[in-house]
Amino acid sequence: MAENERSFRAPRGTFDVLPPQSWARSALARLAMDTFALSGYAPIETPIFEHTEVFERGVGATSEVVTKQMYTFTDRAGRSLTLRPELTAGIVRAAIEHGLDRGPLPLKLACIGPQFRQERPQKGRYRQFTQIDIESLGSDDPMVDAEIVEVGVRFFRKAGLDVQLLINSIGHVAESCRLGYNKVLVEFLRANEAALAPDDRARIETNPLRTFDSKDARTVAVMAGAPLISDHICDDCRAHFSAVLDLLISVNVSFELEPRLVRGLDYYTRTTFEFIAGGLGSQNAVGGGGRYDGLAESLGGGSLTGIGFALGVDRILLALGEGAPPNPVTVYFVALGEAARREAFKVVASLRESGIGADLDLGARGMKGQMKDADRSGARWAAILGEDELATGDVTLKDLVGGEQERIRMDDLERRLTS
Ligand code: HAM
Repeated sequence: MAENERSFRAPRGTFDVLPPQSWARSALARLAMDTFALSGYAPIETPIFEHTEVFERGVGATSEVVTKQMYTFTDRAGRSLTLRPELTAGIVRAAIEHGLDRGPLPLKLACIGPQFRQERPQKGRYRQFTQIDIESLGSDDPMVDAEIVEVGVRFFRKAGLDVQLLINSIGHVAESCRLGYNKVLVEFLRANEAALAPDDRARIETNPLRTFDSKDARTVAVMAGAPLISDHICDDCRAHFSAVLDLLISVNVSFELEPRLVRGLDYYTRTTFEFIAGGLGSQNAVGGGGRYDGLAESLGGGSLTGIGFALGVDRILLALGEGAPPNPVTVYFVALGEAARREAFKVVASLRESGIGADLDLGARGMKGQMKDADRSGARWAAILGEDELATGDVTLKDLVGGEQERIRMDDLERRLTS
């Protein structure tokens, strides 16, 4: 292909969302925001780009997302800005900036939107992808953790996707807890350094915990024998985690303890979790999250604690597969002759006003063409309006599934369509 043609394709790792698949996507977004609203999570929107430091300090300077994947650019005034790779840091930045942390807590927020990471694209992994995200700020009560996880599980149940919930606690940042464990882990990794993949050797000093995330078979084999964080977290974190699990059991949420689950972003503390779906190959995490009790402080805020998760919309849709798209059009008008077209135009507007999905031919096509469009529209009914029907105040209603048709009074149409 010529170079000038290639420039008119969507950039690598991005894609267009087109009908009819776009219906399933918008329905999923609505279901999520409605589900979260029922649990008190208010919508929030933050900018798609932030000052680069928000992510460097918030997400963490040792995470791959920050070191390798950010789309960072300098604007005309010389400021360094970054397309958001995730939502949490921006939401916490907004909460601090607007003093929301001084209001009633916990502050429960929900958001949906595009994220940007320069990853190697593959099935389920894109450079622009959509996340649905909720955050609960300002309380470290285990009940907050349990609520967040339970809301996620409920969303997946409503969406009709079977997921497995993996959960762990990675403790808090203190010598008596994760920092102490890090030392034990570093000692173990040093003793086994020669057997690790070269990339993972380099992480021993910068981010030893992340070696659990390695996909390299050599490292995976070593990590099978590694000391586990669950055996080293402090008594407070242990009690917190056990309270979270008790609460989850009390609302019938099943989970699997995964002591090797460490997550990829630097801000996590205590409870961490992932939602895993079958049939997606290596990109099988359809969502993940955890507590981040030090994030606000690293963004210059006070000691605002928090927990949340983000769900990968694109992966969820892949996992759900191609179902029949939800069809918003109930009736499609086939109108013959100018007077009938004008009448159809009026009736369609009034049906829509009553909340009934209705459509019509806007191109003055013939009967055959309009019937084809009616079929293509996915509507259950075709309402046929010719000169004859118009003269008597009737309409011919054709069942596009069963094939039967009958002539009814136009005044009865709305009742028929809703009965
Ligand atoms: P994350 O694990 O980086 O967490 O992303 C959450 C989810 O977004 C993943 O489980 C996956 O479904 C989806 N995702 C991530 N990267 C891609 C990609 N390149 N292509 C397609 N889908 C992707 C976070 O982003 C945290 N901010 C979650 C969180 C919220 N933690 C606390 N609050």
